[in-house]
Amino acid sequence: MNNSGSAMKHHKKPIISPLRYPGGKASLYTRLREIVRANDLTSGTYVEPYAGGAGAALGLLVTGQVRRIVINDLDPAIFAFWKAIATEPLAMTQMLNEVDITVAEWSRQKDNYLNAARDDYLTLGFATFFLNRTNRSGVLNGGPIGGMDQSGKYKIDARFNRDTLTERIRLIALHASRISVLNTDGMAVIKRYSKRDNTLIYADPPYFEKAGSLYLNSFQDSHHSELASCLNKVSDSKWLLTYDNVPRVAELYAQRRREVFSLNYSAHRVVKANEIMVFSDTLAVA
Ligand SMILES: C[S@@+](CC[C@H](N)C(=O)[O-])C[C@H]1O[C@@H](n2cnc3c(N)ncnc32)[C@H](O)[C@@H]1O
Repeated sequence: MNNSGSAMKHHKKPIISPLRYPGGKASLYTRLREIVRANDLTSGTYVEPYAGGAGAALGLLVTGQVRRIVINDLDPAIFAFWKAIATEPLAMTQMLNEVDITVAEWSRQKDNYLNAARDDYLTLGFATFFLNRTNRSGVLNGGPIGGMDQSGKYKIDARFNRDTLTERIRLIALHASRISVLNTDGMAVIKRYSKRDNTLIYADPPYFEKAGSLYLNSFQDSHHSELASCLNKVSDSKWLLTYDNVPRVAELYAQRRREVFSLNYSAHRVVKANEIMVFSDTLAVA
């Protein structure tokens, strides 16, 4: 894929997120845009309680499909990244353009990732960004592309295009006053925003089977059931949910409309994955 040039030039779907995210849902942009329009929510708020790379949210905001976005993630490192991008974009851009992309620097950033204070958003957020762009598949707990000895075919800087990333941060910063960044449990966010009019919630929680160690997986089976009762209780609000297509989802959301879909999922290789979407009762599905 050619990622050079402006953030949108080569893609029908805007690629705005500076993060690489295993299982990222930026590719749902077109579908979500249709749903926003079908529900007359273009002047409304779009909420992702499990935001991760927030690719879909940023695409919708930057192209003017929704007025405001709320991005929440329980992972303090992911939260620090978004907080730093939204509040200190110039400092992040400067660090992005001045940092060395070497294994020695990778070790320093890894140390910051593990030890920085949770509220030192710039240090923790930048370390998260650095590791996300230099690790294999963007997995924060993984090793650098090319290995510690850099003997691999691709090297540590293979996914670190400073110009492209600078442009993405610039675009996000232009819209920062319309972005809220939160660091709490996804269900608390659903409870809070499901009461509001003119709001669409898109929940993409840790999957049943694929989650593994790709990102923070705070979910036990009981959490999946709790999330289901939380969402089923507010089925008259406007929400949608995606999961891996396992039988348990159909059980938990038996009363809701569901639709199977495919996504190009590239954690370690590109494969076609079978995913499922669940819709609240009042959501007009385009
Ligand atoms: C499937 S990923 C979301 C990917 C995202 N839709 C994207 O396009 O990049 C799930 C996310 O939920 C976060 N998470 C895990 N447990 C959570 C919880 N209890 N509340 C909020 N976020 C949580 C993880 O850190 C991870 O970023």
